Amino acid sequence: MNPRHFLTLTDCTAEELHALIRRGIELKRMRRDGLVHEPLKNRVLSMIFEKASTRTRVSFEAGMVQLGGHAMFLSPRDTQLGRGETIEDTARVISSMVDAIMIRTFGHETLTRFAEYSRVPIINGLSDEFHPCQLLADMQTYWEHRDDIRGRTVVWVGDGNNMCRSYVNAARMLDFQLRVCCPPGYAPGPQWLADPRIEFIPEPSEALRGAHLVVTDVWASMGQEREREQRLRDLAPYRITDGLMELADPQALFMHCLPAHRGEEVEAEVIDGAQSVVWDEAENRLHAQKALLEFLLLNGDHR
Ligand code: CP
Ligand code: NVA
Repeated sequence: MNPRHFLTLTDCTAEELHALIRRGIELKRMRRDGLVHEPLKNRVLSMIFEKASTRTRVSFEAGMVQLGGHAMFLSPRDTQLGRGETIEDTARVISSMVDAIMIRTFGHETLTRFAEYSRVPIINGLSDEFHPCQLLADMQTYWEHRDDIRGRTVVWVGDGNNMCRSYVNAARMLDFQLRVCCPPGYAPGPQWLADPRIEFIPEPSEALRGAHLVVTDVWASMGQEREREQRLRDLAPYRITDGLMELADPQALFMHCLPAHRGEEVEAEVIDGAQSVVWDEAENRLHAQKALLEFLLLNGDHR
């Protein structure tokens, strides 16, 4: 039987996503209550990082250990991947020894090729195209602070990047309205905007009006370092300020997947202010991914 993979949110059904969010909330409570829950004893997760990471690495590694298993960090510099061994050969070998593989990479095609040759679940720990694990944490955070996100209005501000495309997938699956607010040339392709739940509103003061959740991200993602100066100039009108936040719903939350650049995509007053839930959002990476690991490795049977 082919393993279940998690390369984008669309690898799950809407019902499965709801169950993952609920389970993340439950696992968080169990941890706060000091319950030991080790359903993944003797299971091993390999983690291949072709890009830097703080949250993704720490949350997957800590999560695996808390579930009774083990996590193994691999970088291309230390493996034969960095010396030209093919993705297909690497996938066959690693997947014959471990129970799941998390990959953070550049092109999404690396993940799909890996998944094709893997006998165990592949998890997307971020690609240039998507960051679905972050969305699990973001959605859990909205649920915890407010309620079901269905029917709410979310505004994505800034670069139409991997996080933005993952928000588009989330809007379609969890049924919320998403306003994509990017400058010309930074919007995701038209195929990402062709849905009644997605609206492209390039003017920030219009896009934020009445929104229930305001989300942004760095302007130069990993791999785009050389474009940084140009991006800073082009995206400057898209900085989230207190003034912009005032246009949103008074109960609006602010999220950012982190790492953040205060004074660039967001003012310190906003990210460190009362509407910001970024620390819960970061912590929820742990709980959401534990739910995901249970789902993929135990088929939801986590007794
Ligand atoms: N948000 C996120 O994925 O953070 P890291 O790059 O630190 O893993
Ligand atoms: N869009 C950012 C997210 C970092 C977690 C990047 O890809 O670098």
